[in-house]
Amino acid sequence: MSIECKLYGAFMPRLLNKTALVTGGARGIGAAIARAFRDEGADVILTDIDSATGHATADEIGATFVRLHVASETDWDAVAERFPALDVLVNNAGITGFEGPFDGTPPAHDPENASLADWRAVHAVNNDGTFLGCRYAIRAMRPRGAGSIINISSRSGLVGIPMAAAYAASKAAIRNHTKSVALYCAGQGLAIRCNSIHPAAIMTSMWEPMLGNGPDRAEREEAMVAGTPMQRFGEAAEVAALAVMLASDEAAYMTGAELTIDGGILAGSAASPGG
Ligand SMILES: NC(=O)c1ccc[n+]([C@@H]2O[C@H](COP(=O)([O-])OP(=O)(O)OC[C@H]3O[C@@H](n4cnc5c(N)ncnc54)[C@H](O)[C@@H]3O)[C@@H](O)[C@H]2O)c1
Repeated sequence: MSIECKLYGAFMPRLLNKTALVTGGARGIGAAIARAFRDEGADVILTDIDSATGHATADEIGATFVRLHVASETDWDAVAERFPALDVLVNNAGITGFEGPFDGTPPAHDPENASLADWRAVHAVNNDGTFLGCRYAIRAMRPRGAGSIINISSRSGLVGIPMAAAYAASKAAIRNHTKSVALYCAGQGLAIRCNSIHPAAIMTSMWEPMLGNGPDRAEREEAMVAGTPMQRFGEAAEVAALAVMLASDEAAYMTGAELTIDGGILAGSAASPGG
């Protein structure tokens, strides 16, 4: 029996001795992943652009906070200098383009009316961020020859979303870049795995602009899950459980895979014959 097994008895933490970096970890899905990683024994570097919330979350769970804007190459260079070795990276930070605050109405994100600037802003965070994160991780994992990169895509990366076209296109690009990274690393003889998670309807702050704080909030919530076979929003901790599995050595043979976690949304179609 290993020394760790003796120390922890039957409950061997699944990420012991692993160093993990999570982007967009201040709140929501990123915070839940950072917390779950800590619970499984990992050393966690929690990063975000929101320093106040990021610090508070990191202090609460026992992680190290670092301010990192995922679209900034300079920020990633600073991370690489401070943390030259890594076992797990979660590229979680992402935006829809509807975050606000806005002067007046939110920007259009349909394919006919979206501005190039708004389109690019979404791609900068979601795609430049994921590209820079993967590049850093491959370099930081190469000396150990192994590691796990987890890219948070979306249900929107698998189907078209007419009113959030930049978001959907960027999430589809994340899905595909995941597979390029997986094949590249395998081709290099490295056990660096790269997989994507595709959540849908997970209750986080991301939904606040759409739910609002009016008296019709519950009604809006109900309407939003009406098309979800499981008839509820998912929880950030449920996505985190999947990330723990992909980060752990249990997933040693998984790479280039895409895992949906969506209450069954993508299992069928609203227009399926026979209802
Ligand atoms: N909530 C859902 O239903 C859902 C569904 C599908 C996919 N996702 C994806 O999950 C991920 C997390 O979403 P969430 O629901 O927790 O959102 P959230 O808005 O609650 O949290 C996002 C976090 O990312 C940070 N962030 C934003 N821009 C950043 C940047 N440039 N650099 C670093 N950090 C930045 C924010 O400060 C925030 O802490 C996103 O990639 C999102 O697209 C969420």
